[in-house]
Amino acid sequence: MNDAATSASTSDGAAPPRTPGRFITFEGGEGAGKSSRVAELAERLRRRGYEVVVTREPGGSVGAEAVRHVLLGGAAEAFGPLAEALLFAAARADHVDQTIRPALARGAWVICDRFYDSTRVYQGATGDVSADRVALLEEIAVDDVRPDLTVLLDVPVEEGLRRAAARRGDAVADRFEIEDATVHERRRRAFLALARAEPRRFVVVDAATDPATVADAVWYGVCTRLGLAEKD
Ligand code: TYD
Repeated sequence: MNDAATSASTSDGAAPPRTPGRFITFEGGEGAGKSSRVAELAERLRRRGYEVVVTREPGGSVGAEAVRHVLLGGAAEAFGPLAEALLFAAARADHVDQTIRPALARGAWVICDRFYDSTRVYQGATGDVSADRVALLEEIAVDDVRPDLTVLLDVPVEEGLRRAAARRGDAVADRFEIEDATVHERRRRAFLALARAEPRRFVVVDAATDPATVADAVWYGVCTRLGLAEKD
């Protein structure tokens, strides 16, 4: 299992072997239930004997978590959408280098709560940064580390916002949650458009039903797309 990590650390200059791990990302708007579904999927994969690394964006490494506070607290908003996009990309570059690439190289499955599709949607489609610039930042941040599968949890905006508010309780909404319903609606459509553009990478799951049904749909999608048997 750890051969890849061992040979990656040798000093003979040879490129590490093709990463044997799998990289799954989860995307969706506010209140889609991503973090719960990520945790359940990780548990199911662990029961199959896989090493699973659960991570999230913005964040997932020491450097990226520091940038997360700046972004979600709203401190970067005043500098404009491009500056925010640059910070998301900087956080992502650190996250990929420190957490994701090493985990994939040693054969782990990595499940990430949000990844570059969130930048395409939040900073790109609904945030004024051109698609060309978003693509350039993406290339710099991730290099060759691209998801094998992206699960899009799709939920109607009203339901998502209701869930997000219930989950938040008395806590303050973050910089992106407070935007109005029209923006959330545009984001939902933008995510669905990304899924249509890359049907082999995306699996779209209706997340408006009960959690157990959604979890089963996610599992079915992962198994069929990544070649696992659905039943133990
Ligand atoms: P978070 O608290 O992780 O919540 P959730 O994923 O449950 O919504 O908030 C992350 C916020 O950051 C979310 O509103 C989406 C936004 N975001 C971007 O705008 N661009 C990005 O590239 C990423 C990863 C997140």
